[in-house]
Amino acid sequence: EKNTESEFNEPFRPQFHFTPPSNWMNDPNGMVYWEGEYHLFYQYHPDGNTWGPMHWGHAISEDLVHWEHQPIALFPDEHGTIFSGSTVADSENTSGLGTKENPPLVAIFTYHDADGEEAGRDDFQTQGIAFSTDKGRSWTKYEGNPVLKNPGIKDFRDPKVAWVKDQWIMSLAVKDKISFYSSPNLLEWTLESDFAPDWAAYGGVWECPDLFPLPTTDGKEKWVLFVSINPGGPQGGSATQYFIGDFDGKNFTTETTEVKWLDWGADNYAGVTWSNVPETDGRKIFIGWMSNWQYAQEVPTENWRSAMTIPRSLKLFSDGEGYSLASRPVNELDKLQSETSNISGTEAELTHELVELEFDITEEDFRIEFQNEENERLILEKTGEFVVLDRVLSGITNFKADFANTQTAPIGNIQAKNLRIFIDRSSIEVFINEGELVLTSLIFPTSHYSKIQMHGLGSGKAHYLKSIW
Ligand code: FRU
Repeated sequence: EKNTESEFNEPFRPQFHFTPPSNWMNDPNGMVYWEGEYHLFYQYHPDGNTWGPMHWGHAISEDLVHWEHQPIALFPDEHGTIFSGSTVADSENTSGLGTKENPPLVAIFTYHDADGEEAGRDDFQTQGIAFSTDKGRSWTKYEGNPVLKNPGIKDFRDPKVAWVKDQWIMSLAVKDKISFYSSPNLLEWTLESDFAPDWAAYGGVWECPDLFPLPTTDGKEKWVLFVSINPGGPQGGSATQYFIGDFDGKNFTTETTEVKWLDWGADNYAGVTWSNVPETDGRKIFIGWMSNWQYAQEVPTENWRSAMTIPRSLKLFSDGEGYSLASRPVNELDKLQSETSNISGTEAELTHELVELEFDITEEDFRIEFQNEENERLILEKTGEFVVLDRVLSGITNFKADFANTQTAPIGNIQAKNLRIFIDRSSIEVFINEGELVLTSLIFPTSHYSKIQMHGLGSGKAHYLKSIW
């Protein structure tokens, strides 16, 4: 089904970010690459523009940039509504839910039984599975659901499954720890270990883990564990912390000794990575929910609510003490560039609302201020050891007190060398030093920023971008 321009052209409707056709969306779910297609599922309330009984919405892309909306993949059933989870390609048909010749895609998700919750039970979240043998077009729930029952802990959710050292490993958020379960077949699960170092961020409940290996710059491998936390993020509300370490098939151990945040902006939550991306591709591709539970349900849009971040490729880099994660926009986004103009001096016009900016940074400190005809202003600056994104006067902010904030990220005494910025109708994504420092933030300017003022920046480029819809 082709999306018509009118449907996707409402005020603030992102033009190069994924949004649902209508109504409420939160976390990205079940991302898997299969037979030339990237699948994206998402927490979806099809009957309203705030959170409600959860379904898995679905979209497919061949390039991570252009998306075709699909029918809803998973509906609530007698076990509950469908919370976050993951999808794997069961290539060896370990589950027996497909055949060797036509192996199944298997989605592993949390059932949320609201009746159980209301009745005062603690075991209302369990894990279930569903499978597809037609390239993700239709989904059948497993008749033996749930496959993992609840031991009596209220928060027991968001299974992220991967094939690790000859077995399936599920990372599960269990209140404020991550539990690892193993399985030979996706149907029977055994608890292996728990992870919860005492110095981690515990401002809120732990959610949406992800566990995966990445190559180091010196040819070794490290394991990365994502843990989203809400509230307790660095800008208030929701954010994703991560740990670097090792996973031996049973236990995750970390060499990280202080809290690390994947993104220092206010609006990148519950993100996880695609599974089954071919080794020849070599990327670990991430997408996050571009919002924050502090105000997600109040942002000034009607027909739909929420967008995903642009997809990013994750890399380890050596930060002097150990390894940290860089997030870089995927190269496929370059396809959206239509025309480019050079920027120099201290002022420039932006002739189009969809723009990617690139700069070399020449001074220790820099400042870039975006302005529109309404005198709304969005400011990004580095002063001393901090990068600050100030959206206090950036546009509409009065829908929730928490929104009009300045977002501060520590950069220490590292030189900021280069800067990439993506601006869509209602978001800004800032990548400093090839994504070593990232800030993602919603903004609601009442007209597009048509002017920028710059200090401390060298020559730059503005690439105007095409809409994906
Ligand atoms: C994270 C989260 C998950 C849960 C889902 C429910 O934003 O709270 O823990 O599965 O949203 O929609």
